Amino acid sequence: MPNLKHGQILGGWLAPHPPHLVYAENPTQNEPRSRGGWEVLRWGYDHCRTKLKEQRPDVILVHTPHWQTTVGHDVLAVPKLSGLSVDPIFPHLFRYRFDLQVDVELALGISAEARKLGLTSKPMTNPDFRVDYGTITSLHMMNPNWDIPIIALSSNNSPYFHDTKVAQDEMIKLGIATKNAVIQSGKRVVLAASNSLSHLHFSAEPNPELPEDMSREHVFSQSQYEWDVRVLNLMRSGDVHGLMSIMPQFIDEACAEVKAGGLTWMLSAMDFPKTPAQVHAYGNVIGTGNAVVEWDLTSHKKGITP
Ligand SMILES: [Fe+2]
Repeated sequence: MPNLKHGQILGGWLAPHPPHLVYAENPTQNEPRSRGGWEVLRWGYDHCRTKLKEQRPDVILVHTPHWQTTVGHDVLAVPKLSGLSVDPIFPHLFRYRFDLQVDVELALGISAEARKLGLTSKPMTNPDFRVDYGTITSLHMMNPNWDIPIIALSSNNSPYFHDTKVAQDEMIKLGIATKNAVIQSGKRVVLAASNSLSHLHFSAEPNPELPEDMSREHVFSQSQYEWDVRVLNLMRSGDVHGLMSIMPQFIDEACAEVKAGGLTWMLSAMDFPKTPAQVHAYGNVIGTGNAVVEWDLTSHKKGITP
């Protein structure tokens, strides 16, 4: 009896999560108020909001660097979570009351598929879990109405103790596990890799009186900028193999946040698409390089199927 379910990955987004972006939006969920700022990056997310309204996926999956697990890869598996999430570095910018729904069925499937491939993984079932600001910022910017269930995956922090390549190979397996679980679920899914590109940043806020002072925002260095542009051009040209081959050097030379594995996970889940990605925005936040980038798998084919 064939499996009649044909889940699809509709697309993937590089979805950076500096808390400044939520702060600048002034949503009701976030306590601090701002005068705006970082508009180009925020406008980049408008494309994602529009696309999600068109696609109406069943679930958004996000891999976040700021829920770190020392052992293995945990998957959020509590039906409803709410509470206050505070950014430990920028508590004056991000004190966000979250209230979200999780697709537990698919979360359990991803964790089970990961174990089948030899990874260490377990569902996270603590009902009082405080969701990290990486997950919340990316998902708020993508879908501020929070009317689509989500799943967050933790980042195993082995790259910070062991070899980057070994850790990235593990993320390729996690991507395959994710794809397999999505296909079996029959659901239509959008992926998000929640991370910046170059990640060197100023050691202090340039203007503590006005964090959104855009006259003080700029690239950390020309070298970091050139690395980001090189990587973005590989994405834009659809050269996914070129992108993967320079990833370790990019991580070393630009302290790129992709080290946490989210981008590798997402590209692997999408079968390393040669579809040219669309860069909707690039901008700096306290000197880090951030881009909103879309891989639309529906533009040439109807998502990944068995
Ligand atoms: Fe981060």
